[in-house]
Amino acid sequence: MIKPDAVENGHIGAILDKITAAGFKIVAMKYTQLSKRDAEEFYAIHKERPFFGELVEFMTRGPIVAAILEKDNAVDDFRTLIGATNPEEAAEGTIRKLYAASIGENAVHGSDSDENAAIESAFHFSGREIF
Ligand code: CMP
Repeated sequence: MIKPDAVENGHIGAILDKITAAGFKIVAMKYTQLSKRDAEEFYAIHKERPFFGELVEFMTRGPIVAAILEKDNAVDDFRTLIGATNPEEAAEGTIRKLYAASIGENAVHGSDSDENAAIESAFHFSGREIF
């Protein structure tokens, strides 16, 4: 996902450009907005964390871009491309270093495993929307 902060700041095009330049193929994509219920479900794994309320509030405050990306070693390579969760710790040139302001408002989300990538893909897309 390209998160609400990056959308608000006009970074959709630049982020997609970095993603495709890094060799990822976009097999599904949509511009949408999460409801509170959607965000609570998507981030259910974090529901006991102190930042959960803030995370749901942030992720629902404006539109996002959801996408499914395909590549060999996609999960690890995407995490390298986006950089550390906290942009202060993200490597130079990574998407979060370039476009994120804080650990909470960190511009992009990437799945942390192939298993979660499948779950998160099904959360956002039906079979007819995946190419
Ligand atoms: P993401 O990779 O989407 O996965 C969980 C999200 O929770 C994370 O990016 C951040 O947006 C948010 N998050 C993680 N840690 C914190 C924190 N300490 N404070 C606020 N938000 C956080």
